Amino acid sequence: MTKTLIICLIALTLHGFAQTQLFIPDTLVGPNYTLSMHKDSVQFFPSGNISHTYAFNANQYLGPTLIFNKGTSINITVNNQIDDTTTVHWHGIHLPSKWDGGPHTSISPGNTWNPQFTVMDNAATYWYHPHLHMKTAEQAIKGAAGLIIVRDPLEAALTLPRKYGIDDFPLVVQCQQYDVNNQAMPLGMQDSTVLVNGARANNGYSVFGNFPAQLVRMRILNASGERAFNFGFSGNMSFYQIASDGGLLDAPYSTTRVRLGPGERAEIILNLTGMNGQSFYLMSYASELSMGIQGGPTMPMPGGPPMDSPLNGIDFNIMQINVVPQTVNPVTNIPSVLTTNNPYSTGSANITRTIRFTADSAMVMDGPFYFNDSTFNMMRMDYEIPLGNIEIWKLVNETMVAHPFHIHDVQFFVIDRNGSPPTPEERGRKDVVLIPPGDSLMFITKFEDFADTIVPFMYHCHILMHEDDGMMGQFIVKPNPTSTSEIMLNNSIINIYPNPAKNSLTVSINGNDSFTPFEIKVYDLIGKLIYSETAGKSRTVINSSNWNSGLYSIIIKQGKNSIHKKTIIE
Ligand code: C2O
Ligand code: CU
Ligand code: CU
Repeated sequence: MTKTLIICLIALTLHGFAQTQLFIPDTLVGPNYTLSMHKDSVQFFPSGNISHTYAFNANQYLGPTLIFNKGTSINITVNNQIDDTTTVHWHGIHLPSKWDGGPHTSISPGNTWNPQFTVMDNAATYWYHPHLHMKTAEQAIKGAAGLIIVRDPLEAALTLPRKYGIDDFPLVVQCQQYDVNNQAMPLGMQDSTVLVNGARANNGYSVFGNFPAQLVRMRILNASGERAFNFGFSGNMSFYQIASDGGLLDAPYSTTRVRLGPGERAEIILNLTGMNGQSFYLMSYASELSMGIQGGPTMPMPGGPPMDSPLNGIDFNIMQINVVPQTVNPVTNIPSVLTTNNPYSTGSANITRTIRFTADSAMVMDGPFYFNDSTFNMMRMDYEIPLGNIEIWKLVNETMVAHPFHIHDVQFFVIDRNGSPPTPEERGRKDVVLIPPGDSLMFITKFEDFADTIVPFMYHCHILMHEDDGMMGQFIVKPNPTSTSEIMLNNSIINIYPNPAKNSLTVSINGNDSFTPFEIKVYDLIGKLIYSETAGKSRTVINSSNWNSGLYSIIIKQGKNSIHKKTIIE
């Protein structure tokens, strides 16, 4: 301790370096969680303005780590105390779409949102962040994000370091650009300020962590808006990767690098036994990233001003790790088998969907980018996926830059990258996958458990500026049709018009007034009941003049039969 302090003081006097000890966010343990998103500020830079931030609860930047236990029912209260609309999305978590926190489920300033669901995910590291359309980047890089650690009995039975902050370290790594007034820039291409759990890690600053001389676990999240990191340690120290985004790998994978695009997570185990007193660095070996991956080497723009961050294409330090004495009862060995991941067989897939990553021209470097040439439209449902479908999604990057593709609702298994089976680190459960230019990748997944005809799930590029720019699509998971023998009402006899409608909406059922009464219920996109009536006539006119414009779901029910329809109010 004293030694570290002296080294700090020497470093300060000699180089003007400031050292910050790694901050470990608090944990919140369920079943009830309260998250208050508020405005705050941090003096990130030694001179000039404070930086305005968003944070949760007692933090000034980022939020607490939520601990979820698989199988438990949880209840989260999200308070929006920023002066802006927001949403909070539970990235990687499998849950009903109305609690997913996508762009359709916004929380207005001063309001509260109360998702309740049962945790079904495997033990791994997930995270939460805002997802308001066109504002995700702005709100996330101001600090409105945090980690989620899911625990489950299978993982708990393995001998692995899991004492939070003692031998199991959360590392939220971000790289962003700050403007001349020290404010985070959502669209900054010259991202050069690296933050680890919200502490500055470069430009004369250094973050250090004290890690015990034993097996330690790190849960690394790349929470950057754009940059990919090629994580490794100084001296090319080797380590084991034990988990990818959504769960354990089958076996610890011995390596010297783990590449994470924005949104991706990895859990690694580092053996520091016998290293007490030594120091080394967590680094990004960005020189090894291939062209087109953000943060990797770039070609200078002929004649133009330098466009790129000084960190691009160089190997740089992220955090100093000082090895300190062992704790009591350290974990001394990790198991050679962790779990068994069972990807669905390709033969069981119901459909293959191809998603091409495109741009206006082949030369576009900074967007906008699209999926299959079309930009995101909140009113358009890109896919209706039958509940229970097993699907192969084929992602083809036709642009000049890499895109980390993310899908909500499910974890997937990579089955093929450029014609080859996935490498060990990509054989586990994932929800984000980095697709460099020219790559073509296939994953397989199953859409289980949660069907909702109203609120869609998203899929998008996790480069936040690409997402905000429209590199996003949405799908609903459709419930299975009820048995046909009972259906009297059917789509072809129900008419809802005009569509779009303005002041009034007519629901008509072909036939006559001898129909037994039917129920009409209208829901908005977040599933709120807007209108309900029991109609006895074949034609009902509903006054919609007070409704907000948007997409509405109409359910017409008679006895056991119900028909779902959608309409737009202008
Ligand atoms: Cu991490 Cu749709 O997001
Ligand atoms: Cu997500
Ligand atoms: Cu992208």
